[in-house]
Amino acid sequence: MRVCRTVAELRAARRDASSPVALVPTMGALHAGHESLVARARGECASVIASIFVNRLQFGPAEDLSTYPRTMDEDRTLLERNGVDVLFAPSDAEMYPHGAQTRVVPGALGEKLEGERRPGHFAGVATVVLKLFELAEPDRAYFGEKDAQQLAVVRRMVVDLGVPVEVVACATVREGDGLAVSSRNRYLSDAERRDAVGLSRALRFIVEALEHGTTDLGAVLRGARAELGALRADYLEVVDPRAFVPLEVVPRAADLLAVGAAYCGSTRLIDNMKLRTP
Ligand code: PAJ
Repeated sequence: MRVCRTVAELRAARRDASSPVALVPTMGALHAGHESLVARARGECASVIASIFVNRLQFGPAEDLSTYPRTMDEDRTLLERNGVDVLFAPSDAEMYPHGAQTRVVPGALGEKLEGERRPGHFAGVATVVLKLFELAEPDRAYFGEKDAQQLAVVRRMVVDLGVPVEVVACATVREGDGLAVSSRNRYLSDAERRDAVGLSRALRFIVEALEHGTTDLGAVLRGARAELGALRADYLEVVDPRAFVPLEVVPRAADLLAVGAAYCGSTRLIDNMKLRTP
């Protein structure tokens, strides 16, 4: 695996890569979710570039930028084992040259839910993802459905700005009990880890109720909150995955998404599940 620390090194590696080229953008602290993206990319593309960059632009001032887990040695081993050809792991100064100020600001898709709770988050994500696309020039880029609103924002950006990359969505990888695998799960104590399953239980409750034809969304969401157990709800909502605006009425025969965020101690967890109403 070729490890590139600079833009110049990445561009040189890209020139040598055979097509189609995959890009798997990450912030490191790699786990089975990231591994599934890399495995899919490896299976579908001739060359695989993975990036590890903890992007300060997408963290709020009170968020976990300074404590975000950094496990470069383990990450390198995982990527190597999964057949990644190129690892791009730039420094902050390399990604954001002194004075960098340009931002890609998503529209309405990035304004509710995560966008509302984390002001500037999706502009930070869109900016770094567009830059990674410009630098790595992938034919395909692999993203997880775990971060469904992020995926929607990236898809929209690619269409709106005419970026020549195919965005590939990969299913959420879960632990045996249903908890979505996440880098932030490392923050959980043993007791919190047991409680953390409450978020997927609450989302599953919404999926089952709506798929069985329940139409009283208020009652469903109240029931789902009860399923959170020891977790403190941030939000639990149902959205149209093309809009990411909380629904008040559930449409019939629609493909929807149950989305949620909850605090487990001081750790904020997010998750989502697809559903189809009758
Ligand atoms: P990060 O949280 O490291 O996630 C990198 C990719 O892995 C994202 O596309 C995310 O959706 C996917 N992923 C995370 N957990 C997953 C799981 N349990 N199952 C499947 N896929 C999973 O998301 C980011 O980094 C950043 O915002 C980034 C896109 C790299 C921009 O900085």
